[in-house]
Amino acid sequence: MRVYLDNNATTPLHPDVIKAITDFLPYYGNPSSLHETGRDAKEKLYSSINSISEFFGCPREDMIITSCASESNNIILKSFMNKKYDFRPHIIISAIEHPAILETAKYLESNGFDLSLAPVNEDGVVEIETIKNLIKKETVLISVMWVNNEIGTVQPVEEIGRLAKEKNIFFHVDAVQAAGSIPISFKDLPFDSASISAHKMYAPKGIGLLYVKNFAKRKKELTPLIHGGHQEGGFRAGTENTIGIAAFGAACSALSKEMEKNHAQEEKIRDHFEDRVQKEIPHIIINGKNSKRKVSTSNITFKYIEGESILLRLDLHGISVSTGSACSTGSLDPSHVIMALSDDKERAHGSIRFSFGRENTMADADYTVDKLKETVAFLRSISPLYKGE
Ligand SMILES: Cc1ncc(COP(=O)(O)O)c(C=O)c1O
Repeated sequence: MRVYLDNNATTPLHPDVIKAITDFLPYYGNPSSLHETGRDAKEKLYSSINSISEFFGCPREDMIITSCASESNNIILKSFMNKKYDFRPHIIISAIEHPAILETAKYLESNGFDLSLAPVNEDGVVEIETIKNLIKKETVLISVMWVNNEIGTVQPVEEIGRLAKEKNIFFHVDAVQAAGSIPISFKDLPFDSASISAHKMYAPKGIGLLYVKNFAKRKKELTPLIHGGHQEGGFRAGTENTIGIAAFGAACSALSKEMEKNHAQEEKIRDHFEDRVQKEIPHIIINGKNSKRKVSTSNITFKYIEGESILLRLDLHGISVSTGSACSTGSLDPSHVIMALSDDKERAHGSIRFSFGRENTMADADYTVDKLKETVAFLRSISPLYKGE
């Protein structure tokens, strides 16, 4: 039995996406070519782009197709380095951002920017007052993620967006984990820009989206990362990833029909999973439980043992989970997200993320709890930290 519970890291391809990829394969033309082969590819591409635009409620002119959300985040943050300031520019990000924002912001800091990491409360949420108190007259950018990738907590991005607008500060949202979980209409939201990743919503890797409100007006304030051809309104050069865009479009069409159903099913499974874990495994903490969370995410600390050992033993039973962000794998540092809400290294080291998706069933949840019980009991029996019930 194989149970995949790492959907926040990446999702399997949706059957409609696989079909869209296969259907697109004969359209090998370069969409910029003037001949029929190119025109055919371009036409097919347009319909996929329309599906993406409809799904995210954003006009095509405000969309830049990128290779991933990391690229989208980098474009926005690094654009602030190319502006002229007669003061030391200040930026605010939350302390629980994904490395795609965190590391880029630190890069800006190493280039003279003043960086503030907004702390979160013990439920893993950045409070609006915290942001208010951090704003200075030199603040040029605020970047806060919509949904945290490790614990699933939903951040008050609409409120922060309104505050930023009032103060005339650019507001960027990493919306990667919200996409496919929360209905999004960018044109109606108080965000100046946002990033999306297709591989978190049942499309393949290598395709992302950057939304910029009123892009035509703002284009001169932003700096492309890739110069060259005229693609993406002349802002992001490189022949389009046509198959990736077709796949992304198909994922958007599929999710627009089934998002609600997936949501209800994932919530039921996640709640059942957490109920059983709470009843059957002692000494656990469900991280972020008291706040609004993405319904498919459950992050649990198992006290007295190491998350990595749990992960590896569950893997032997065919269960895929993760400790923190996939992008932080390979580092022995404790999760910066759990540290931000508890400042407790042991809690951070013993936490596991279970992220459910459209293909999961109650049987997957039950199998996982059964194996988890065995695993946790075994690891505690050999843990020098565990002194019994
Ligand atoms: C919140 C968040 N932002 C950004 C990223 C990076 O996305 P990509 O893999 O498309 O660069 C991820 C991926 O885990 C994420 O969860």
